[in-house]
Amino acid sequence: MKLYTVIPVVGVTLVQAFPGAAPQPATEVRAAADPRFTQWRAPGPNDVRSPCPGLNSLANHGFLNRNGKGNTIPQLIAGGKAGLNMGADFMGGIGLAGLAASPFPLLGSFDLNDLDKHNFPIEHDGSLSREDAFFGNDYSFNQTDFNMLLSHFQGGKTSIKTASEGKYARVQDSRRRNPTMVYGAREFVLSYGETALYLQTMSDPFSGVANVNYIKSLFEKEKLPYELGWRPSTQEITLLTLGNMVFELFGAGPEPAPEGLKVTADTYKNAFEVVNGVLPILGNLTTL
Ligand code: HEM
Ligand SMILES: [Mg+2]
Repeated sequence: MKLYTVIPVVGVTLVQAFPGAAPQPATEVRAAADPRFTQWRAPGPNDVRSPCPGLNSLANHGFLNRNGKGNTIPQLIAGGKAGLNMGADFMGGIGLAGLAASPFPLLGSFDLNDLDKHNFPIEHDGSLSREDAFFGNDYSFNQTDFNMLLSHFQGGKTSIKTASEGKYARVQDSRRRNPTMVYGAREFVLSYGETALYLQTMSDPFSGVANVNYIKSLFEKEKLPYELGWRPSTQEITLLTLGNMVFELFGAGPEPAPEGLKVTADTYKNAFEVVNGVLPILGNLTTL
């Protein structure tokens, strides 16, 4: 049985970003004021990237260090907020997990390519757009895998149901092809979270309806689709909104829960407890 150790998720801000505000003008002002939305640049030869299309996109726009190196928790929180309206609870919580993948976690930062580390603490088999480590590369974008997800969407829009079905199709595909596939509670929950992440960042924290073109830009170009008309969600994306959507995605699709896991709206938040006993040590070192 896996041991799940509770990590404190520091800096929890479940308050919505703009309660009661007229959302559209607020976003326009914020987005227009930040030149980084239109400053996408592909990584150079000495820059490093990760198996995460979200972090890679943020780095390609300069919301994170363009070289992909030395990412600290405060930088992740600030970059996630400015580029995607991510809450500090999510960026801080998963940032701590990212730190655990670094060979020098006590330095308080990680390089994006540290996140390639297979099966710990975040990277897993059955990804939407990456091959399993068994096939040699768990970090580069893979068009064949991603097309399998895309084939589920209709009319150029995503939905909770089709995203859930597409995610499960990738899991089943890995199960068929990879004799070493690891897929238990950790992988199940994290991968639903990743589906909620692309849906919410490319649309809003609630509907699950995003333009497929935006999703393609995020994954295929690792570019925020600003020039296609996308703007960051006016409402903050938090562990709460992600957890609610994980629960909805699970309910809308065909995938059974792993044995022993009861899926609730709290399951995703609790998964931040999954990572391991290293994290409380890191938590003491990190000021938010
Ligand atoms: C500190 C913050 C973050 C860390 C440390 C992190 C780390 C990771 C890692 C290690 C993976 C690979 C999991 C796998 O095997 O598929 C991943 C996947 C993913 N991440 Fe992030 N991530 C962060 C923030 C974000 C944000 C802000 C987004 C928003 C778009 C995002 C979206 C995704 C998606 C969609 C995947 C799935 C990729 C796939 O399955 O092909 N992540 N992330
Ligand atoms: Mg993976």
